Amino acid sequence: MDIPFYKTYDGDRIPAIGFGTFGSDHVDPASVAASVRTAIRLGYRQIDCAAVYGNEKEIGTVLHEAMTGKIPDTPAIERKDLWITSKLWNDKHAPQVCTQAFFQSLGDLGLDYVDLYLVHWPFPNFHPSHCDVTSRSADARPYIHEEFMALWHELEILVDKGYIRHLGTSNMTIPKLEKVLRDCRIKPAFNEMELHPSFQQPALLSYVRNAGIIPIGFCPLGSPNRPDRDKMPDDIVDMEMPSVMALAAKHKCHPAAICLKWARANGIIPIPFSTKERNILSNLEAVCQDPLTEAEAASIPDCNSRLVKGQVFLWKDAGDDWTKLWDPNGTIEH
Ligand SMILES: NC(=O)c1ccc[n+]([C@@H]2O[C@H](COP(=O)([O-])OP(=O)(O)OC[C@H]3O[C@@H](n4cnc5c(N)ncnc54)[C@H](OP(=O)(O)O)[C@@H]3O)[C@@H](O)[C@H]2O)c1
Repeated sequence: MDIPFYKTYDGDRIPAIGFGTFGSDHVDPASVAASVRTAIRLGYRQIDCAAVYGNEKEIGTVLHEAMTGKIPDTPAIERKDLWITSKLWNDKHAPQVCTQAFFQSLGDLGLDYVDLYLVHWPFPNFHPSHCDVTSRSADARPYIHEEFMALWHELEILVDKGYIRHLGTSNMTIPKLEKVLRDCRIKPAFNEMELHPSFQQPALLSYVRNAGIIPIGFCPLGSPNRPDRDKMPDDIVDMEMPSVMALAAKHKCHPAAICLKWARANGIIPIPFSTKERNILSNLEAVCQDPLTEAEAASIPDCNSRLVKGQVFLWKDAGDDWTKLWDPNGTIEH
C-alpha cells in the first residue's frame, strides 16, 4: 500500500499515519509489541512510543526483528525507512536527569537514534500509574517556562549529537508554544495533540500549522478503550456521531475509517492503536485510500469534547479545575 508522506520544515519525510502503542492500562507490553509486529508486517512504518507506556523494551525487540528480516512475509526494513518516536515522561524534566531518561528509551528501543523525541506533557508532575483522577502529587507545579526551556536546551544538545532527529512538544497550548518558539534554538517540528472528529481544536491546529509544525493527532478514534480515569459521562463517542456515521454509510466503511480520513483531510497524522489485525489493516487503508472531500470533512461539527483532560497533573492551588491545564483564557495559568 502506498502511504502518503508529510514534509517537515527541514525537508524530512514522515508517513501520514503512525501506530499508537499505549495499552490504555489493560493491554500488556507483550500484546502491544505483538500488535506493533502485525502493524509493521501490514505496512506501518511510523511507531509512536513513550517511556511511560512501559513497553519500549518489548517494542525494541520487534524493531530489531523488522530490521533483520525476522518478521514473517516482510523483507528486512532499513532503519532509515522506519520512523520511531519516543517521549520523555513528566518525572524526568530536570536537566540533570532528562538525558539519562532519553538514553534509557534509546537503549530499550535498541536504536542509535530516534526520529522524534517529544516532551510528553509540559508539566513536570509525576503521579503513580493507574492512579485515579483525584490523585494529586504534593510536588505538582504549573508550567514554568524557564524550567521547560532548560529541559529543551538539553534536548537540543542531543539533536546536535545526532541522537534525536526532530524535537517535538505534546499537550501544549498556544500561549506556551508562543514562548517556546520565541526562546528555542531548535524549533519543534511536531506537536502531538488530542485530535478526533469530536475534538478538533481549530485554533491550536491552525496555529501549529501556520508555525510550520506538523500536528500528530492522538486518540484519533476517540480512544474507546481509554482508562477509566479519562472517561466522563458527557464525553462524545466519535464513532457514533451522526455526521461520522452518515459518511461511513456513504463511503461504505466503518466509522473508524471516517475518523482517520477526517485527520488526513486536515493534514493531521493520526496514530491509532489496535490489537486486532483487521482493524490495524483497515485503519491503514483508511488513510491511504478513498479520501474525504473538503466539504465532507467540513460536514463533521466540532463538539469540543476533550477526552484526555489531564486531571492528575493539576497542581495543588488549581483545585479540581482541569481546564486550567489548557490555558482557557489565552495566558499561561499558574
Ligand atoms: N501524547 C499524548 O499525551 C498521548 C495521549 C494519548 C494517546 N497517545 C498516543 O495515541 C495513540 C492512540 O490513542 P489511543 O490508543 O488512546 O486511542 P485510539 O487510537 O483513538 O483508539 C484505540 C482503540 O480503538 C479501537 N480500534 C482501533 N481500530 C478500530 C477500528 N478500525 N474499528 C473499531 N475500533 C477500533 C482499538 O480496539 P481494538 O484493539 O479492539 O482494535 C483501541 O482500543 C496511543 O496508543 C498513544 O500512542 C498519546
